[in-house]
Parts: sequence; C-alpha cells; structure tokens
Amino acid sequence: MDRTQCPIGVFDSGVGGISVLRELVARMPNENYIFFGDSKNAPYGTKALKEVQELTCADAAYLISQNVKALVVACNTATSAAINILREKYVDMPIIGIEPALKPAVHARENPRVLVMATPMTLREEKFHALMQKFESDADILPLPCPGLVEFVERGELDGAELEGFLAELFAPFLEKPVDCVVLGCTHYPFVRGMIQKVLGSRVEIFDGGEGTARETQRRLKEYGLCNMSKEKGNVTLLNSLASVQTERLGWFLLESHR
Ligand code: DGL
Repeated sequence: MDRTQCPIGVFDSGVGGISVLRELVARMPNENYIFFGDSKNAPYGTKALKEVQELTCADAAYLISQNVKALVVACNTATSAAINILREKYVDMPIIGIEPALKPAVHARENPRVLVMATPMTLREEKFHALMQKFESDADILPLPCPGLVEFVERGELDGAELEGFLAELFAPFLEKPVDCVVLGCTHYPFVRGMIQKVLGSRVEIFDGGEGTARETQRRLKEYGLCNMSKEKGNVTLLNSLASVQTERLGWFLLESHR
C-alpha cells in the first residue's frame, strides 16, 4: 500500500489545533488531513498530568486507527505531557509536537521582555523549564498561565467586551513596564491574536509556533519518504468528540479564518 496517500493525523484538546492545521494546509495543500479535537474534555491545561497523558494517548490511538501516516500533536499541553510516551509507543512514524516559539521571540530584539502565554500545565512541565533555561540569558522571560482563555475560543467568542476585559485583567501586571514580545504558547490563542494585540498595543510583537510546526512536519515527512506527490488539493476531515453541529461549524470557520 502507498502510505504517501494516507492522511496526516492532527489533534488537540479542542478546536485550537486548527490554528496549526491551517498552517499545514497552507504549506502542504496536496496532503490529506484528519483533525481530531477533543472539545468534550477541553481544557486539558488545568487537569492533572496523568489524566492529560491518558486523554492524549486516546486521541493518538484514535487517529492511528484511521490509518494516518504521521501524527501532529497540535497542542502544547499534550506535547509537554505526553510526546515521549507517544514516541515510545509508535516508533515507526513521524510524531511532531509543538512548543512555545520562544527562540524567534528572544532574538527579535536586544534583550527583550518576552511574555509567554500558555496553559498552567505547559508552563509547569519540565519541557518548558528546559526551553526557558536555554534562552534565559538573552531575554527577560515572563511565563503567564492563562486559565480560562481556551474556553473563549471553544465558545467561538473571538472578540467582544468580555474577552477584552478578561485580557486587560490578565495583562494588568505588565502595563507599567511593557513587554516587547508575546509568545502564544497554546494553539487556541492565535484565534484571539487580534484582541491580544489590541489590548497590549501595536508595539508588541506576537509569535506563534504554528508555522514552525508545519515546516518541521514537512521536513519529517521528507525524511521518512512520506510526502504526497499529488498535484491535486487534498481532503480535510474535521472530527470532534462533541460531534455537535456548532462545533463542526466553528471548526470550519476557524480553518478558513485569516492567519
Ligand atoms: N490548545 C492547547 C495547547 O496548545 C491546550 C488547551 C487546553 O486544553 O488547555 O496547549
């Protein structure tokens, strides 16, 4: 069987990972994709580690059962909790994770103040501590756990007064001494990027890891000889554990929204 025709499996705790999927589709439009969002169990980032590991393994097993040729863990939280477990389990396929795009942010300016927005779990786990240590001497890195923000995106609430108020309160401690860069360390956050920019001001540069993850996925597919060589546009299937019409509509809306 020609494995190059098989879809790439992409998953997240909910609809956030669609921000990575749209980067993948933009870079490799001829590939086929199956996206699974576990909105029924979202958010993952405020749960216990063991529970997130179990949920992540179940998401991955479901996509593997759909005969995917590669797995993209489009969730910073699931990556930090379980990428090693997945790589041990599925040794013969590329498994690509995502982590906060700290490197480009740190190098964007001279000794910048960098705010890293992510879920409590991502910022607590060893993976992020190791990443932070790498760049600590080049920048003032400020981790900012954002519990509650994922829920706005899951509801499809991407602007409006309530979101603006939520963000204003979240960023209040950083207004006196403003930050230079913001890293979106959760795949849900790119969908509220406009509002984050509005609240922090246009001077602040925002970074997200979606494009880098798409680039890395392409590199790994090449390495494994798994690139689809078709010249035709591929198929995208969106699946969600909620299986509701609203979630399906939100998924397509997010996929087609501007990057
Ligand atoms: N989208 C996820 C991430 O990138 C997690 C959101 C959540 O479920 O807490 O971290």
